[in-house]
Amino acid sequence: MEATETTTTSPGISRAYIWTKVFSFLGVVPLAVFTVIHLYGNLTAIQGPEAFNDHLVKTRAFPFIDLLTILFIWVPFVMHAIWGMMKIKNARPNNIRFNYWDNLRYITQRVSAIGVMLFVPAHIFKSKIQPTWLEGHPATFQHMLELAEPVTFVVYLLGILGVAYHVANGLWQAAIGWGFTTTQKAMNRMQVFCILLFIVLLTMGYASLFTFARAGH
Ligand code: HEM
Repeated sequence: MEATETTTTSPGISRAYIWTKVFSFLGVVPLAVFTVIHLYGNLTAIQGPEAFNDHLVKTRAFPFIDLLTILFIWVPFVMHAIWGMMKIKNARPNNIRFNYWDNLRYITQRVSAIGVMLFVPAHIFKSKIQPTWLEGHPATFQHMLELAEPVTFVVYLLGILGVAYHVANGLWQAAIGWGFTTTQKAMNRMQVFCILLFIVLLTMGYASLFTFARAGH
C-alpha cells in the first residue's frame, strides 16, 4: 500500500493518471492544433513563391516567435514523444488472437508514432535549424524545392501520411480517454469527424508537397 500512497495526490487519483492526462492533452493542444495551422499555412505554396515567402515572413514577424515555438511546440513534442515511447515499450498487442478493427488501430497508432518521431525532428532540422541557424538564412520557397529530390519526397510522402493518421486517430482515442464520447452514437460521430480530419490533413500536406515537387523538377 505504501507505493500507492506515495504516488497518490488524492483518493483515487494517482500521479500516473494525471501525467497521462497532461501528455494526452499536449497531443491535442498544442500539437494537433499546430499541425492543422501549419499545413493550412503551407497551402500558400500553391499560389506561388511570393505568397509562400510572404506567409513565412508574416509568421516569423510574430513577437518572440522562436521562444514561443520552442516552448509551445518543441517541448510539448518531446514530452508527448517520451510518454508515447513509454506506452509503446509497455504495449502488449493481441492482434493475432483478436483480429478486431480497434486492435488494428492500437498497432497503427504506435507504428505511426514511431514514424512521426523520426519524421518531425528530421523535418525541423531540414526546414528550420539548418537554414536558419546553420546557414544563416531562414527557409524560403526556393529552399523547399529540395522536396523534389526522390528520397526526400518519399520521406515526406510517408511522414505526412503518418502525421495525418496519428493526429486523427489520436484525437479519436483522446476523446474516449477524456470521456467526451461515452455513447456509441457519440463515438460514431467522432469517427466521422476524425476520418474527415485525416483526409483534410493528408490533402493539405500532399498539396504543398506536390507543389514543391513539381516546381523543383
Ligand atoms: C510538405 C509539407 C510541409 C512543408 C512544406 C513544411 C514547411 C515548413 C517550413 C518552411 C518550416 C520552417 C518555418 C520557419 O522557418 O519559419 C517548417 C517548420 C516546422 N514544421 Fe513543417 N512543413 C511540412 C510538413 C510538416 C508536418 C507534417 C509537420 C508535423 C506536424 C510539420 C511540423 C513542423 C514543425 C514542428 C516545424 C518547426 C516550427 C518552427 O520552429 O518554426 N511540418 N515546416
